[in-house]
Amino acid sequence: MSTDLNILIIDDVLDNIQVIMNVLKEDNYNLAFATSGKEALELVKENDYDLILLDIMMPEMDGYEVCEHIKAIPGKRDIPIIFLTAKTSIDNISKAFKVGGVDYITKPFNAEELLARTKTHLELYTLQKKLIQNNITLKIKNELSEKRLKEEIYETQRELIYMLAEITEVVSDETGKHIKRVANASKLLAHYCPSLSEEDEEIIFTAAPMHDVGKIAVDPNILHKPGPLTDEEFEIVKTHTKLAKKILGNSDRKVIQAANIIALQHHERWDGTGYPDGLKGHDIHIYGRIVAIVDVFDALVHKRVYKSAWDINKAKEHIIKGAGSHFDPDLVKIFIEHFEEFAIIEDE
Ligand SMILES: [Fe+2]
Ligand SMILES: [Fe+2]
Repeated sequence: MSTDLNILIIDDVLDNIQVIMNVLKEDNYNLAFATSGKEALELVKENDYDLILLDIMMPEMDGYEVCEHIKAIPGKRDIPIIFLTAKTSIDNISKAFKVGGVDYITKPFNAEELLARTKTHLELYTLQKKLIQNNITLKIKNELSEKRLKEEIYETQRELIYMLAEITEVVSDETGKHIKRVANASKLLAHYCPSLSEEDEEIIFTAAPMHDVGKIAVDPNILHKPGPLTDEEFEIVKTHTKLAKKILGNSDRKVIQAANIIALQHHERWDGTGYPDGLKGHDIHIYGRIVAIVDVFDALVHKRVYKSAWDINKAKEHIIKGAGSHFDPDLVKIFIEHFEEFAIIEDE
């Protein structure tokens, strides 16, 4: 029975090849031979060998040169090469190792030595190949499961955020798709902001739905009160900005931290007359300034318990009028420049 291990013997003297073959056939390897470097290189290119026995002294191309050529063939670099040499001078041996040989056997051959060294290097090479293959398989497997896990976490995170936002909708006076539209419009405005990155777009898209999450902690009797609120009641509603911190304030996650900032600052005004902290201009985080615009705009063009839906152009005028007082004028400029796209979101 033959093994599935292939050995190439390269020697210009056929008698030498014959001797080696006679010895190695004992272990049932598949044996091939070449009597010149040129012929050998052709064979190596065409076939898969697990070991090469290579004579050093050959006319035209010597063993060192053949070895260097083999090492340069793509995919053949790692095939172990054992040099066959009649000389045992240190020079010969060190050069054999230098060009990439793994071992050498001296002529005349000792059958036991030839068999043992052949077997050892074949085993090493087979193990090495297996190890590499296992590593590749393991790497692919790891990458795949890591990717799946990341997707799973990301999707779960997004779902949880939307659940939280839905609860906010239920407890607040906001309706239906407000939260999703605010997320889309915030992302769109961030997209056209030259100072914001693609990562910012994703963060604001995920975080904006939580802008009113603090309303969960506000007395529902006030939130759902039909008719106008007293000053005192309005002061209580205003606390929803700071109350969000109770829900979002203890996270190391970028998205949750962004949501906390947005919840805190989405009622601040550019001129400092907003709440809760009366922040002014660029002291208000850009996420807060973005959500301020799209939140108000969306509230205007849709019906609420306390108001009917405004015509979209009237709402647009309101935003323009608010530039520099309520809203960041640069953001309003961008909003108006791309107004058609924001209008499409409001239709959704
Ligand atoms: Fe709010
Ligand atoms: Fe809102």
